[in-house]
Amino acid sequence: MQGARIISVGSAVPDLRINNRDISQIVETSDEWIVTRTGIKERRVLTGANKSVVDLAYHAAMKALHNIRMDPLEIDLIILATSSPNDLFGSASKVQAKIGAKKAVAFDLTAACSGFVLAIVTAAQFVQNGSYKNILIIGADVLSKWIDWSDRKTCILFGDGAGAAIIQACSEEDNAILGFQLNTDGKQSDELSITYKENPYSLNTFQLFQGQFQYISMNGKEVYKFAVSKVPASITKCLNALDLSTKDVNWLLLHQANKRILKAVADRLSIDTCKIISNLSKYGNTSAASIPLALDEALQNNKITKEDIIVISGFGAGLTWGTVVIKWKC
Ligand code: UT7
Repeated sequence: MQGARIISVGSAVPDLRINNRDISQIVETSDEWIVTRTGIKERRVLTGANKSVVDLAYHAAMKALHNIRMDPLEIDLIILATSSPNDLFGSASKVQAKIGAKKAVAFDLTAACSGFVLAIVTAAQFVQNGSYKNILIIGADVLSKWIDWSDRKTCILFGDGAGAAIIQACSEEDNAILGFQLNTDGKQSDELSITYKENPYSLNTFQLFQGQFQYISMNGKEVYKFAVSKVPASITKCLNALDLSTKDVNWLLLHQANKRILKAVADRLSIDTCKIISNLSKYGNTSAASIPLALDEALQNNKITKEDIIVISGFGAGLTWGTVVIKWKC
């Protein structure tokens, strides 16, 4: 078996900031309510004609490549974790073309806010079994395009962003993607969704159906309860399988959905809150982008040092949730 490790990270957010006071001009809410219930102060929103998730993914990917002066031609595979592509057939191929990674195969991975965790795990399989050497994974979402801006239960939460990481093959002894634990409960899929609604229409003698996607809908309370119960269990299972304890954990990097969820998960695991990596006050919930965006910021602030154990967990629509434990090697 080959080893796999993250050798570079990059991220990108749009320039436009929308703060809680701006949102309180649109729906009946307040800065105080949003900060107290979520920890979010502002979020970034993508604007501009024909700007899409591809633009954010491109900038994040280029930063990750530039950091290590890697030629895009060295990339073997691109995995774009997104739930907001600009093409239902996938946006990864557009990113591949834009960064000039001509030799890379590219595909989208849809797993909502768990997307980046799934992307790390998927990339690690391809590297560890010897199929590929360099894999670019990107978590990017522009959920602002799917928000009902008159729904105060959801419009306060989400923001746009992208984060990328390059996973490279290494010796088995240097393997840094230590283990994972993944789950799906499709029975709860209606708790958080962007549903596709159809209407019948007639074509000659045929009755056919066509429709369109709706806005994001979420049962916030149920998703909250799901997150604070399932995520700690997933982390515990993953650590146990690796013969590690919560005391070995240097950093807890969770999907940035709500500061109360981050704290509740840490408390349940008896992990000191100072080990929580969090930047959601500035960006809100950026779905698949939230984990790499927070990882990049923590690295830029020199929080993470070599040999640190980082527990990364994603959770969200599907419902999906999962954990990957990595050792930082750079
Ligand atoms: O990324 C995928 C994962 N997503 C998540 O993890 C999200 C999980 N859920 C949450 O983070 C929280 O459930 C929310 C932040 C979405 C909501 O917080 P909450 O403490 O669960 O509030 P709630 O939905 O129970 O609403 C409490 C009250 C309600 O009023 P009543 O019925 O008590 O009179 C709501 O109508 O707050 C009201 N409310 C608001 N008030 C002001 C709901 N949204 C707002 C708002 N501003 N934006």
